[in-house]
Amino acid sequence: MQDFSYFVFARSLHVAAVVFWIGGVAFVTTVLIPALKKIAAGDDKLELFEQLEGRFSFQAKITTLLTGISGFYMLEFMNAWERYSQPQFWWMHLMTLVWVIFTLVLFLFEPLFLHRWFRERALINSDKAFALLHRMHKVLLTLSVLAVLGAVVGSHGFTF
Ligand code: HEM
Repeated sequence: MQDFSYFVFARSLHVAAVVFWIGGVAFVTTVLIPALKKIAAGDDKLELFEQLEGRFSFQAKITTLLTGISGFYMLEFMNAWERYSQPQFWWMHLMTLVWVIFTLVLFLFEPLFLHRWFRERALINSDKAFALLHRMHKVLLTLSVLAVLGAVVGSHGFTF
């Protein structure tokens, strides 16, 4: 019974972390980047973006960790690892794929080269760099929303 309460707690933590994390990605994609694209001066745009997304990046790291820990805990509790070999659990694959992409970007690619690469491109041609940034965010947001929809529908027993 106590173990089951941990499972329920993990599930609610998982969803709350996803809300903060993917909600933030949605805000950056649909509000912040479009607003910044309208600002004319290239340097201000870059500075502003780095300050605002820098703050979100910390939040995204914490929520990505919490989502992963609670997700793997639930899988272990349900003893459901074999879902990864079953195509009807495509939404499990998608959730995990989204998590892997963000984990790599936040913890590895950004500190290693992505941050510097974007800065250099933005200093050469700000409009082009922000257009590319927007496109990348749109792809990630689309994948994330599909993962959320698939996970809610799938974990409540609906199979396609
Ligand atoms: C390592 C990555 C992840 C793992 C191992 C994982 C694992 C799980 C598990 C085991 C469940 C419960 C499934 C069930 O009850 O049958 C679940 C539910 C869910 N997950 Fe994930 N997850 C991960 C990442 C994500 C990501 C990235 C998102 C969002 C983009 C997400 C969104 C959800 C949602 C919305 C639910 C449904 C909750 C509900 O309706 O009660 N998960 N996840």
